[in-house]
Amino acid sequence: MDVGRSFIEADPNFREDVLAGLAAAIPAIPARWLYDRRGSELFEEITNLPEYYPTRTEMALLQRYSRSVAEITGRGDAVIEFGSGSSHKTPILIEAVEPSAYVPIDISGDFLRESAGLLKQRFPLLPIYPVEADFMKPIALPDPVAPMTKLGFFPGSTIGNLVPWTAVDLLRAMRDTLGVGAFLLIGVDRVKDEEMLVRAYDDAQGVTAGFNLNLLHRINEELNGTIPVDAFRHKAVWNDKMSRIEMHLVALEDVEFTVEGRPFAFARDETIHTENSHKYGIRDSRLLLRAAGWGVAKEWSDPDDLFAIILAQAEAPRFAP
Ligand code: AVI
Repeated sequence: MDVGRSFIEADPNFREDVLAGLAAAIPAIPARWLYDRRGSELFEEITNLPEYYPTRTEMALLQRYSRSVAEITGRGDAVIEFGSGSSHKTPILIEAVEPSAYVPIDISGDFLRESAGLLKQRFPLLPIYPVEADFMKPIALPDPVAPMTKLGFFPGSTIGNLVPWTAVDLLRAMRDTLGVGAFLLIGVDRVKDEEMLVRAYDDAQGVTAGFNLNLLHRINEELNGTIPVDAFRHKAVWNDKMSRIEMHLVALEDVEFTVEGRPFAFARDETIHTENSHKYGIRDSRLLLRAAGWGVAKEWSDPDDLFAIILAQAEAPRFAP
């Protein structure tokens, strides 16, 4: 039986973001809406593409340096993961740190339960305390974890999907959640050759294009849209001024459509901005962390400096000149 997405009740926040975003002077839809079930499957495919270097580079860094992380933080910390736990990366860190507890935090209860269940199978003796919450705001951690030393984990260079001021807000919220003295291991994608960057976001097989265009299918199915998806194409472009890759959906011709009965018109070459992926040089990422009250304890990168994992520590406020 074909269970179409039209049976899914649309999230009111999705509706609001799409209607406001399509009507905006510079049309844009927040990137988080790219990740419905199909979008998440396509993202998983992206992580295995030859052109998409971040996932395999970060995995290799974690495999190589997780023990060095544990030497600095000490074993037995509580590991607090922001996001529901990446099935491949989290076990590498857990094996090295041998934490006393693991706390995955995610806004999606489904993802949270699924990944917590998988980790429980792999580490049956590890106490796991899943927290269903929006980690953009400070969170009260479960009581048993409160007195433990803490190591936050935020892999994947997801920080790059936020504009810098929101990234600083998030890093500050993480600092408030974890407390002064806590560590944070964060994955950051580096600035590099433009061609390599654009290829990573516009692959030869067209998987990333499908991932981006899926947003239009989602709008049609969940918000009764009439968008002619074929009238749009995927575009990935390096914006040097902003130090980021941008994903857009470009109208191939003049198009008119409705979403939830509201009319929209796009002229040929007009775009809907769907994602940013900021890239940081060595000093950029240090400054970003410092702006949110984190000092850099140590950072590791691959020989080509494609990607870095940074171990930061939450600094106490100090009297500064
Ligand atoms: C999830 N995030 C870190 C990815 C990135 O590289 O910015 C999302 C992505 N979009 C297209 N390809 C990958």
